[in-house]
Amino acid sequence: MAELAWGRWYAAVEPTAYRIDYVINPFMDPADQPDPTRARDQWDAMVATLRALGARVDVLPQRADSPDMVYAMNLGLALSRPDGAADRVVLSHMRYTERRAERRSAGPWFADRGFALRRVGADGVGPCFEAGDAFAWGDALVVGYGPRTDELGLKALATELGVRVRGVRITHPAMYHLDLAFCPLDDRRAIVCPAAFDDASAQELLALVPEPLVIDETEALTFCANSVVVGRTVVMPACPPRVRAQLEAWGFDVVLLDLGEFHKGGGSVRCLTNPLDVAIGRDLPAAAGGEVVVPPLQ
Ligand code: ARG
Repeated sequence: MAELAWGRWYAAVEPTAYRIDYVINPFMDPADQPDPTRARDQWDAMVATLRALGARVDVLPQRADSPDMVYAMNLGLALSRPDGAADRVVLSHMRYTERRAERRSAGPWFADRGFALRRVGADGVGPCFEAGDAFAWGDALVVGYGPRTDELGLKALATELGVRVRGVRITHPAMYHLDLAFCPLDDRRAIVCPAAFDDASAQELLALVPEPLVIDETEALTFCANSVVVGRTVVMPACPPRVRAQLEAWGFDVVLLDLGEFHKGGGSVRCLTNPLDVAIGRDLPAAAGGEVVVPPLQ
């Protein structure tokens, strides 16, 4: 098996205005606020760890009006060219109005770095799409839909990017983004939590992964699928013993990070970072005209 070719260049948002001001997922509770100093230390340690592993991490300032902007994964789906140059970014069209101002900072930031701006909807018009729902995997962009991304957004994404989109329907309220239940590890292996999806989608996703590391709901709720892979190293906020044994048997190194302050907002290391080096033509084949594959209605 081959290592993932992507995962060596990330965006992250400095947590200067991270708070729990509202509730848009089951983890958030305004009565349980993050400690700003501890959150800052945890985030600094995360960035230092990724850089020590050889990854590039580019940092955006956080908007004062956007407490969830620290979850940089949701700023947009960035794509590069196989030579590593910036290409396009599909900006997220957030489900909840509370996160919609983030686009005003994300757009100029990506544009300054050479990404052409694309979108499938904005400000409540057009389908919602949140980038934490999308991963290049195999022959397609696998996109979770339901809680955050609209099914209609899949077609828009396929057309906008000229790629095949495989939709999987998320039904678990606490796994509201694909990146809480699915984590590509290399070109054959990925962590998968079937409990996040309806039956047809769970089967569909398992069929797409030659060697799945299947986790149950309890394991997924430790955020262990919300991990980042740099080469053969899996940077994780938690690693249940069974998951560690399998990763190590496969030759991965596990690096654990304490990101507990960010779990209060419902995200961990994957949510706090956004890979910028996923390439069409290398990690994701081009499919002329775009194509959408969704599981049959049940
Ligand atoms: N509070 C944020 C929200 O509900 C958490 C985002 C987590 N990010 C992720 N990529 N799963 O939108």
